[in-house]
Amino acid sequence: MSMKTDRDMGGHYAIRRATLADKEDVARLTQEFTTEGGMTNQDASRNIQRDFTSNLSSWFDCILLVYKPTNDLSHSVGFAMWSYGYFPYKGRYAELTNLYVSPKHQGKSLGYHLIQSVAKIIRSKGCQRLRWSTSATNHGAKTFYAKIKAENLARKGVELLQLVDQNFIDLAAGDTNRYLTDVDKPKSKLKSKY
Ligand SMILES: CC(C)(COP(=O)(O)OP(=O)(O)OC[C@H]1O[C@@H](n2cnc3c(N)ncnc32)[C@H](O)[C@@H]1OP(=O)(O)O)[C@@H](O)C(=O)NCCC(=O)NCCS
Repeated sequence: MSMKTDRDMGGHYAIRRATLADKEDVARLTQEFTTEGGMTNQDASRNIQRDFTSNLSSWFDCILLVYKPTNDLSHSVGFAMWSYGYFPYKGRYAELTNLYVSPKHQGKSLGYHLIQSVAKIIRSKGCQRLRWSTSATNHGAKTFYAKIKAENLARKGVELLQLVDQNFIDLAAGDTNRYLTDVDKPKSKLKSKY
């Protein structure tokens, strides 16, 4: 691989941890990422507006790529977002949920610096690995991931599964409550804001 570690960002860019004050910016970038990727889903921005709260890092963490010549440290041109997970046999890990550099700033090693920063942060928290999914048709991203030597789990026989929408709701609504102890039972009287 030709990529060096810790490449110079030319002094024009900075990477910093997102804070609550960046909520609007992260929502904007998330929407940009979704639109650039050809997705029409409007939920991403709305979810960020809802979930970017004081307990931010209990659900996800986020870093921002800032273009310094604009002199506006709140105007970011890229971001990475991830959440934490745990496998008993592999320990702590993180799941990368977004990696995005806006088109004008692509091709300058910034995506590399973003994912490298994620690796540094999660490693310092004891994570053993970083995982994520990508669309099979996102050839640009796949080339990028191959360059950082990411393994393709599909080639290792791993299938990615999910339960969403009505199927998820139906499963959660099933009559299993009688098997749960009081401590584990969902508090149905509490109104969920979702
Ligand atoms: C994927 C993405 C984050 C890469 O960021 P970037 O800053 O453009 O990439 P870098 O400049 O750090 O590239 C690092 C290496 O990957 C290669 N690479 C990056 N994007 C590539 C592309 N679209 N096609 C081919 N190679 C690519 C670069 O050529 C570079 O290789 P080199 O070191 O041999 O020169 C960025 O293109 C992006 O945001 N894309 C849209 C959103 C997206 O698809 N995100 C991933 C979703 S899973």
